[in-house]
Amino acid sequence: MIKIDKLLEFLEAQYRKKTKKSLQIYRRAQRVMVQGGSHSLRLFSPYPFIITRAKGPMVYDFDRNAYIDYWQGHYANILGHNPKVLTDEFKRFSLEDGSLHTGFEGESQIKLAELLLKQLGHKDYRIRFTTSGTLATMYAVMLSQAYTGRDGVLKIGGGWHGASPYLLKGVKYYPQAGFEQAESAGVPKEILRKIFTTRFNDGDDLEKVLWRKGSEIACLIVEPFLGVGGFLAASQEYLDLARALTEKYGIVLIFDEIISGFRFCPSGVQKLYGIEPDLSTFGKLIGGGHAVSAVAGKSEILEKCLPQGSAKLRVLFEGGTFSSHTQYMRAGYVMLKSLADQASRIYPKIAATGENLRRRVEEVFGDRGIEVKCTGDGNDVVKGSSLFMVNFPLKRVRYTSAEDVWNPALSHVRLKEEVLKLALLTEGVHVVHGGGAASAAHEEKHVEQTIAAYSEAARLFKKYLY
Ligand SMILES: Cc1ncc(COP(=O)(O)O)c(C=O)c1O
Repeated sequence: MIKIDKLLEFLEAQYRKKTKKSLQIYRRAQRVMVQGGSHSLRLFSPYPFIITRAKGPMVYDFDRNAYIDYWQGHYANILGHNPKVLTDEFKRFSLEDGSLHTGFEGESQIKLAELLLKQLGHKDYRIRFTTSGTLATMYAVMLSQAYTGRDGVLKIGGGWHGASPYLLKGVKYYPQAGFEQAESAGVPKEILRKIFTTRFNDGDDLEKVLWRKGSEIACLIVEPFLGVGGFLAASQEYLDLARALTEKYGIVLIFDEIISGFRFCPSGVQKLYGIEPDLSTFGKLIGGGHAVSAVAGKSEILEKCLPQGSAKLRVLFEGGTFSSHTQYMRAGYVMLKSLADQASRIYPKIAATGENLRRRVEEVFGDRGIEVKCTGDGNDVVKGSSLFMVNFPLKRVRYTSAEDVWNPALSHVRLKEEVLKLALLTEGVHVVHGGGAASAAHEEKHVEQTIAAYSEAARLFKKYLY
């Protein structure tokens, strides 16, 4: 503990030296916004650097520092920051054709919906757009509740789906409660009692929970490739079992593909698993850098939001001032179209970068006698992956479930979250949870610089901690 604090002190001093202007600006922010900003992950300790521009793999701050960025717009920017295909499209926008919001129906949302459905390839699927992942998963849960007439929600321990009441349990790992704790004030106790959690990739646990609670549960919501929970791929057997059991118990199966959608192939990762969930949620990269999300799913479930239904039986999934904003829809279409058209170039490239990063980060720590296990690699179904998360195992850990990543008795969470983050920032690399997502704009030279930064972090870890 003392050693970690000493290293943090050293790193913080380095960071403060190079980000003086950012600190001045951040002080202004603190005077007008709680915590000095609007998203707590961006507001890391001691204070965030404030950026002036972003291009490709890079972001630049007010002190003229450059950082290789693996956060990439919360993993939305699979082509890197401000890619040419999108900036070219923006040049074609004009005020007359609805680049700013009009509040009317336009063709652009149809084009994006057609493309999304084509890439998913399911029969009798429909879409409704909204503006954030949080809203998409909230509506998906409500649709499943209306469809089944049940209230219960089964989610994965460690799964983050945004902050809506039925999904605010079992996100963070708490030493006493594990993934069984309420995540926020303001969620009524009656709701918390209706949220159940199960361990990712653990078929036995899923069977057990459903055997006990199956008849109360409206939906099972699962990320087929777990995101914040640890960048872990589900096994084929696990998702096959989830599909079979949800059918058996009459439960709506929701795949939350807000991170995984179009990240591994130009479709949902569900396509690789060959599974058709009842509902799917998409967000992040499907908006081409804009606030777009979608609930896609079986018509008979989505139709629970039709205005004809009685108020008691229908879901009020019908508002949203900025839903299907023309500019957002056009940008989303351009993004998905370029991913579909250039899939054979983009996906192998980002997967190779991801693999290179995972392997070499493990190596540079290993060379100093420090064990590191990078999660994010795929499996026999998801054959390549651009994601990487650095973990410092404290025991022999297999890394199949969120607990392996976030239980501080199994992995050194503070080392990854606080120390590694600052160590890399001082070397000009920006990561979240020890790593992030490679984009198509990350080239070999960026990987080399990144590895040099991890290598320097490993040197300091050895000197101060091991
Ligand atoms: C899997 C998943 N679902 C839902 C959300 C919530 O999306 P948003 O932040 O757009 O509300 C996130 C956000 O990180 C996510 O990773």
